[in-house]
Amino acid sequence: TSVLAVASEVIPLVKTGGLADVAGALPGALAPHGVAVRTLLPGYPAVMAALIDGAVVARFDDLFGGPARILAATARGLDLLVLDAPHLYARDGGLYAGPDGSDWADNAFRFAALGYAAAEIGRGAASLPAPQIVHLHDWQAGLAGAYLAYGPGPRPKTVATIHNMAFQGWFPESMREALRLPPEAMAIEGVEYFGGVGFLKAALQFADHITTVSPTYACEILQPDAGLGLDGLLRARAADVSGILNGIDTNVWNPEADSALPAPFSAANLEGREASRRALAQSFGLDLGDGPLFGVVSRLSSQKGLDLLAEAAPTLLESGGSLALIGSGEAWLEDRFRALAEANPGRIGAFIGYDERRAHLLQAGADAVLVPSRFEPCGLTQLCALRYGAVPVVARVGGLADTVIDANPAALAAGVATGLQFPSGDQAALEAALRRVAALHAEPETWRRIQRNGMRSDVSWNASAAVYADLYRRLAGPV
Ligand code: ADP
Ligand code: GLC
Repeated sequence: TSVLAVASEVIPLVKTGGLADVAGALPGALAPHGVAVRTLLPGYPAVMAALIDGAVVARFDDLFGGPARILAATARGLDLLVLDAPHLYARDGGLYAGPDGSDWADNAFRFAALGYAAAEIGRGAASLPAPQIVHLHDWQAGLAGAYLAYGPGPRPKTVATIHNMAFQGWFPESMREALRLPPEAMAIEGVEYFGGVGFLKAALQFADHITTVSPTYACEILQPDAGLGLDGLLRARAADVSGILNGIDTNVWNPEADSALPAPFSAANLEGREASRRALAQSFGLDLGDGPLFGVVSRLSSQKGLDLLAEAAPTLLESGGSLALIGSGEAWLEDRFRALAEANPGRIGAFIGYDERRAHLLQAGADAVLVPSRFEPCGLTQLCALRYGAVPVVARVGGLADTVIDANPAALAAGVATGLQFPSGDQAALEAALRRVAALHAEPETWRRIQRNGMRSDVSWNASAAVYADLYRRLAGPV
């Protein structure tokens, strides 16, 4: 099966969140299933700089304000189609926001262009064979669905994947014409969304199938709290909605061969973990006591519920714990954790920034990794934690609920617990979980059992890649 994947970020080239991890890892995981993926992404400066080769497969005289081309290229083992549109992407700053932190004023055009290019490739207008499936990731790719629906020519099957319902891509109706959408698109069965143009709405309206990144989130988004305005559409299309769990790249995340760790370890040889624990404590200036060393690796945004953790810090400290946090994002949360670290030297350490090697060491050295999200479509950090023997302590929500087995009495008796869960968005529940961790951690045998169970659970892409491959095949139909 041939697939055009469309994403606004792809590791190892550009990343702001887990979307990039998924878009970067899935093609490799699908290859053994007979699925050939090419990934279309914007030609940001970091992407252009990484291209090894590049053949022009399409040109546009005017793609929303300037000339553009699509380059077929390979970079870091990925088959890419890069939308080279300097007027939209050749600038310093973030993928979505400028240096001052506010969204680029022309984001509607920056991502309409991505969708437009995807639709052109999808209908076979580029000098490439048309793909059987076009797979749209998140709102940035969403308008492709509308361009295919309203445009000429053959229409490939489309899949839309929701990585985060909180980002929907809404723009005023006055932009409709400049976005090259026909007047009839401003309808409930078109792209119209709260009186404007909805990019994610377009993806969900026109896709042949809709997926999200965990079964629990697939249920949650059918309700108003998580559906955030699109739940009605999703309920109407519920038969076409499914949840497919994310995995992680188990070669990148392999505690037996990880250059970021002082010593290798495995489920069979957990002793090697101690060196990482010490190195982690040292690099965060923490004194190692008998209590659990907690870790956090996260974007700092209200989604992640880390304000609740900051409030719960006294409980964490009272129960003998210490905390190492790696994160960046909203300034008030950065300040909050900087202040906590300053006020609690030797007990709380914070690295404000993005650092992958440090994240690997944290997963290898922390006793427990906290993910107290208010909502979480899937979450990848708890999967890394499972793989590295850091016991995940997670809010019971979205993909966190689907990937961690709570150490409740039944699970402990059956010997299957892999972590701890607590009700999301609730500081008291988080505090109770911190105390439960301290109590379990004080029983070395039980704790080791939980660690080993986690390390033996399958967090790879294997199972989910097969599900995506089946979905593609079913949609593509008989050849
Ligand atoms: P989201 O996409 O909502 O941010 P995910 O858990 O799906 O959450 O993916 C986030 C990914 O980014 C994980 O692989 C996590 O380890 C990584 N990450 C987040 N913040 C940092 C950071 N400050 N330094 C290094 N890695 C980070
Ligand atoms: C989003 C979600 C996260 C998910 C990631 C990859 O960023 O917040 O839960 O793991 O996408 O699908």
